[in-house]
Amino acid sequence: MEQILTVGLGDRSYPIYIGSGIMPRLGQYLRERLHSRRYAIISDHKVEALYGEQVLQSLRAAGLEGELFSFPAGEASKELATIAQLASTMAQRNFDRADAIVALGGGVSGDMAGFLAAIYMRGIPFVQVPTTLLAQVDSSVGGKTGVDIPEGKNLIGAFYQPRLVLIDTDVLQTLPQDEFLGGMGEVIKYGASLDADFFHYLEAQQEKILAQDRACLNHVIHHCCTLKAKVVEQDEREGGLRRVLNFGHTIGHAVEAASDYSLLHGFAVAIGMCAVTELAERCGYASAGLRREIATLLTVYGLPADIPPKLDRARIRRFMLTDKKSVGRRLFFVLPVELGKVMVTDQIDATALDKVLAAS
Ligand code: NAD
Ligand code: GLY
Repeated sequence: MEQILTVGLGDRSYPIYIGSGIMPRLGQYLRERLHSRRYAIISDHKVEALYGEQVLQSLRAAGLEGELFSFPAGEASKELATIAQLASTMAQRNFDRADAIVALGGGVSGDMAGFLAAIYMRGIPFVQVPTTLLAQVDSSVGGKTGVDIPEGKNLIGAFYQPRLVLIDTDVLQTLPQDEFLGGMGEVIKYGASLDADFFHYLEAQQEKILAQDRACLNHVIHHCCTLKAKVVEQDEREGGLRRVLNFGHTIGHAVEAASDYSLLHGFAVAIGMCAVTELAERCGYASAGLRREIATLLTVYGLPADIPPKLDRARIRRFMLTDKKSVGRRLFFVLPVELGKVMVTDQIDATALDKVLAAS
């Protein structure tokens, strides 16, 4: 029925369930896997309207209590003010350490609910129930939680692992097409940076994936979670290896922030992957043609390859300098060396970077 993966982190290990029909049985999964009997379900208004009642009902059916707390959908809500408001409401409703949080929604809900779980009463358990493709293949796994501040994306946060990840692939049926394509940006990231065979699978199965063929999508989600789990198990707190998961993100995050978040995250990552691959080619780390190969696949999936001409290059540069991969003002990039293989370096030719930012 459902497939089960494990993220192996010693006594903080947790399972990921992937399959159809999980959401209506959510209460059962919680009852079987967690001790808590009362859950704060954190979601955005859109996801609450679509799935909130179903989730509450499934908790009731399992003999559990649930209360929904929601906020306006979108990246603009991913800020400290929302966290403060949610924490106050939970405290007014007497949630305590015996209770737990369910993150119901996309990466914004997951990042915020996870951060709230990390700091509420100095930490309470939480469960990820991702409802976008992006969250199902990436953000719900690995324990990165946090919020944005005006100076940059995800600059406040904590590593805090969920107790359980429940991925119901049925919920993708209500996801708007551009959000689905944004998720494909992160999917292609896995192929381009970690697994050339998977990249070729995405090329070969483009029609079926774009038609959201169930078997293909299950394979894609399972494979991405497997790749991510392997990396996180070796480097949970991004001391080294985990940085490879940020392929496309140094320039991507800066482009996303410079667009005032009008660009979806996955679209910004697509642009960032092409820019950084061009940088790798210009610096001689990758052979000519790699950018074209990656850009071609992104285009097939309706994703952009170039930095929008109207975006202010100086702002992009400023946001790049606040990237969490910069150390002592040295900016590190995750550069592809060939399809499925990346390296991390700060040895970048400044003229090449100027050309990438100017010419893209
Ligand atoms: P999101 O959470 O804003 O969701 C996108 C939109 O889809 C929202 O409007 C939401 O209401 C709607 N939606 C969600 N599920 C739906 C469904 N099943 N049907 C219909 N509509 C639905 O954005 P996202 O793209 O999921 O996540 C982006 C965020 O994830 C960014 O903040 C990014 O920084 C973060 N992220 C975090 C990690 C991590 O490791 N923690 C990794 C990648 C991205
Ligand atoms: N999305 C990058 C990471 O989880 O490390």
